Amino acid sequence: MNIAASVGPALALEIADAESIAELRNQAEGCSRCDLYRNATQIVFGEGSGKAEIVLVGEQPGDREDLTGKPFVGPAGQLLDHCLDEARLDRKRCYVTNAVKHFKFTPRGKRRLHAKPNAGEIRRCAWWLGAELNILQPKLVVALGASAVYALLGPKVKLTPARGHILQPANHPPVLVTIHPSYLLRIRDEAERHRLRLEFVSDLHKAAEFGAR
Ligand code: URA
Repeated sequence: MNIAASVGPALALEIADAESIAELRNQAEGCSRCDLYRNATQIVFGEGSGKAEIVLVGEQPGDREDLTGKPFVGPAGQLLDHCLDEARLDRKRCYVTNAVKHFKFTPRGKRRLHAKPNAGEIRRCAWWLGAELNILQPKLVVALGASAVYALLGPKVKLTPARGHILQPANHPPVLVTIHPSYLLRIRDEAERHRLRLEFVSDLHKAAEFGAR
């Protein structure tokens, strides 16, 4: 599906002074483009194959990711891994990153509750995402959830109508829009959860087929 005309300006592919993801990650260590670095333990940069043809983009690191420094290793990451297996999309062939690279949370007693990044935080952090994509030049980017859709495609593209579609913005790798795995973790109704999980796996399978072309 090609609806580039309605996509609007997509994320700019930034030209960083770095030739590899490792170099870019080093530069990002000291990032203070927004205030989220103040309370986070560390930056959680993207991770995976430097030759990845598929890039998966989530929202922001969660509690486990903040502590380990690795993306998608907590409950949402474990669910993502199961769904990737079912979709026959090998995580080792992908590069996994987030729209926002620092954990945003609200303290509640001893717990740190996920807080949604706002539009300004997403826009500032998009510089790193644009630089990652410019180095990797993937065949396909998979936007997991609304924050990734916002970072990659701007405010006009809405998750629900675009879900399952591959959008082709100008001068940008195509973007497959799907839900975020943590959304599945929050659905109480078992039948609904099952239905949306099947859709999610089908979207990931579409990504696997696109990457194999
Ligand atoms: N949710 C995300 O969006 N990214 C992670 O890395 C973990 C959970």
